[in-house]
Parts: sequence; C-alpha cells; structure tokens
Amino acid sequence: MSAADHWNDHYQQGKGFRPVTEPEVGLLAEHLSPGTGRRALDLGCGTGEYAAALHDLGFTTTGVDFSHAAVATAQARHHDRDGLDFRLLDVDRGGLDLLPAAEFDLITCRLFLAFVDLVPTLAGTRRLLAPGGRLLVTTPLAERQQAGRESIGLRPADLDLLRSFSWTAVAEYPLDDLLCLLLTAHTTLDRTTR
Ligand SMILES: C[S@@+](CC[C@H](N)C(=O)[O-])C[C@H]1O[C@@H](n2cnc3c(N)ncnc32)[C@H](O)[C@@H]1O
Repeated sequence: MSAADHWNDHYQQGKGFRPVTEPEVGLLAEHLSPGTGRRALDLGCGTGEYAAALHDLGFTTTGVDFSHAAVATAQARHHDRDGLDFRLLDVDRGGLDLLPAAEFDLITCRLFLAFVDLVPTLAGTRRLLAPGGRLLVTTPLAERQQAGRESIGLRPADLDLLRSFSWTAVAEYPLDDLLCLLLTAHTTLDRTTR
C-alpha cells in the first residue's frame, strides 16, 4: 500500500484529524491578519478546515494534498468559499515544482512536515514564498508522543534544521501540546530560490 493509499483509507472512512481550535485561529488572526490581497498555500491540507480559516481571514488560498479522498472532501465541504481551491499534489514527488515561484505570502504546514522529506520540502517552500513571506509550521513534538507514535512529530534535529533555513525572523508559540513556528523569509529573493 502506498503512503497516499494509507491516507486515502483514513479519509474514506470519514475520519479527520485534530480539529482546528479557537486558539489556533486566534494565533492566525493575531499574527497574520488581514489576508486581503495576499495568497496563502496550505500544504497537506487534508479536508481543508485550516485552509478555510485562512480564507476567512481574507487570504486567497490554495490547499494541496496527495490524498484524492482528502481533496474531494475538501472541495465538497468548502465549495461555497470563493478564492479557496484545492489541488491534488504530492510534495515528495516534485509537486512543489508545479507551483509558481515567489507567489505565496504565507505557506502553512499543519500536522504535516513530519510526514515528508524535510530538506526538499523546505527548499521548495522557500522557492514559493514571496519576498518577506512567511512559513507557519504547526507540529506535534516527537519527544512528547507515546512510544511508537514519535513519527507524527518533529524531532529536535528537525526543528533545528527548520530554524536554520535562511530566515530573517523565527518566532515560536506553544499551543497546547503543539508547537507553532512562524518563519519569515528575506525581503529580497534568495539566490537559491530564483
Ligand atoms: C496528519 S494529516 C493533517 C491534515 C491537515 N493539515 C490537518 O491539520 O487536519 C497529514 C496530511 O498530509 C498529507 N500528506 C502526507 N504526505 C503528503 C505528500 N507527500 N504530499 C502531499 N500531502 C501529503 C496527508 O494526505 C494528510 O492529509
């Protein structure tokens, strides 16, 4: 069974993940609002609730996921929101290369980064961010998971890598048992992202 099949099974059974909470939306509103006139990309969007929250802050938002069941559910649930769209895309198979460079003011990864190849995903994300754009990572921590479930969270070495990936500012906000990292790209295009 492929990784995408595994996620498809989950969504086809009508399951989701941890619901988006009020404190999470509050954090978005406090640090990233208003989104009017700006573009957001939600990686590994699942059934689209976080992307919908970005849309509701004014961002023109694209959610991407490699599970066709997730994308179909997201499209059905949020079809009434103009400026919110969902696409099938595999981040580990060159999917980020299909998106326009330096286009997004905000890229979000909620409960996502632990499931993909970190270095190419971060490099791809930096290429897609507009000058001064921001990456918001919301993640469980591997060290806080029960034995056998560590792989759903980022490890200390992953967090160090994330923090060191050529940002002008790094802010961190604990959110219940999750960690949110808000990372700001340089205001000029990085040579490696052109
Ligand atoms: C734990 S779920 C989180 C979903 C959503 N972000 C949320 O917070 O509810 C991880 C998501 O990442 C997606 N995913 C995993 N690997 C992926 C990849 N290589 N490319 C695109 N999406 C991927 C899965 O299909 C799943 O929807």
